[in-house]
Amino acid sequence: MNESANSNPSPLGPASLTLAGHSYSLPVIEGSEGERAIDIGSLRAQTGHITLDPGYGNTGSCESAITFIDGDAGILRYRGIPIEQFVDSPTFIEVALLLIYGHLPSQEEYERFSEDLTRFANIDEGMKHQFEGFPRSAPPMAILSAMLNALSCYHPELHELEDEAELHHAAARLISKIRTIAAYAFRHSRGLPYIYPDPGLRYVPNLLHMMFSLPYQQYVCPNVVRKALNLILMLHADHEQNCSTSTVRMVGSSGANLFASCAAGVSALWGPLHGGANVAVLEMLEQIHRGNITPEDYVKLAKEKESKVRLMGFGHRVYKNFDPRALMLQKVAEELVPMLSGNDPLLDIARRLEDIARSDPYFIERNLYPNVDFYSGILLRAIGIPTNMFTVIFAIGRLPGWIAHWWEQNQTVGGRIARPRQIYTGPTLSDYIPIEERGQG
Ligand code: SDX
Repeated sequence: MNESANSNPSPLGPASLTLAGHSYSLPVIEGSEGERAIDIGSLRAQTGHITLDPGYGNTGSCESAITFIDGDAGILRYRGIPIEQFVDSPTFIEVALLLIYGHLPSQEEYERFSEDLTRFANIDEGMKHQFEGFPRSAPPMAILSAMLNALSCYHPELHELEDEAELHHAAARLISKIRTIAAYAFRHSRGLPYIYPDPGLRYVPNLLHMMFSLPYQQYVCPNVVRKALNLILMLHADHEQNCSTSTVRMVGSSGANLFASCAAGVSALWGPLHGGANVAVLEMLEQIHRGNITPEDYVKLAKEKESKVRLMGFGHRVYKNFDPRALMLQKVAEELVPMLSGNDPLLDIARRLEDIARSDPYFIERNLYPNVDFYSGILLRAIGIPTNMFTVIFAIGRLPGWIAHWWEQNQTVGGRIARPRQIYTGPTLSDYIPIEERGQG
């Protein structure tokens, strides 16, 4: 059992397992929301057996106090607070501090962190030359992952974090500089000069300033855009053991520093089944908009396994109900898109796809609902974010969650390197045959 476990033995008592006529008892633990797990920490020692669960659909990798999801009820809470309560008041940075430190920041804590975000917004001039090494067509997620690792070269003093003061310095640098790196990756792709961060701007306006200002023409962030992008970042800030966060924990479990672990998280998030889905959704909507295929035929194709086509932005490993983030983003998109970019045909197509899918037995039987990526791309497009930067925005939002999970794992007493086992199915004992004795072909 994890020494720093905050779970309790289940009142239902241990699980019993019968194998080859022997009976074994395994502890059952219960989390603060009543979730139960069979603790198999002693299974192999007791039975000589391991479990097998490709994709980990039935396997918990850790205990965590950061985010709670109830996929059947469509519930998402950060440190116990439902995300629906974040719509109006807080900023992304408040939510970031909530996730990382486990409590909402006081005014003084918030201001101190904000001041450090301003202080740390620039990147070393030496890093700028590294952008020049990438082709203009380089995917921004490739640059982001590489540059987060490069950032660690400028902060060797933050490779090992011993206390919350050092965590603060690493978190503030990462959360601040990821904006600058993202913006410079975008500027490089367009052959535009880099725009320095403006110390007079808050988090979101500064990101958009560095992306969209010109040397003699400052981009001014409309308030509705600032609020919308704040909400998008907040809704992406954490999502328990998703693929990229599990990657950050896996890499961090080897003792790798926070910068390298988050760089690995960027790589995992890039995949179209994960954070890259928001780009895939836009490509799907644009394909339908170009008239290459109707919404009805696309949904039909998505139901045919052999087509290898999926209704992107639909389905989720955990949510078997509406993804609460999708509901919130859809509402903002309905309000904001007409205001920012007039009537967007892609929004009409998205609505049509959702209507068709949500009344189709294939999707209903499999509990496939729109997920966070289904509407986020339409909203980002209306704000003016180019499609190839969508997943980068997701990464900026998810960074506080990665930091929180890396630190939670780093602080786990008795934490061990993550090293799954396997069931071997390859050749049994064989001999080496010298090349001159091998057959042709
Ligand atoms: C994110 O994990 C997280 O928390 C992730 C995330 C986060 O905040 O970190 O929420 C962000 O990654 C959201 C998901 C973005 N990805 C997509 O929108 C890509 C499209 N969705 C699917 O590829 C899929 O739904 C996944 C990857 C999201 C979930 O995959 P699972 O849990 O492995 O489900 P599955 O592939 O086993 O599907 C179960 C069934 C299968 O059919 P059967 O074999 O039972 O006949 O549902 C079908 C699948 O073929 N199915 C779909 C589908 N999603 C599942 N069929 C058509 N279109 C889809 N989108």
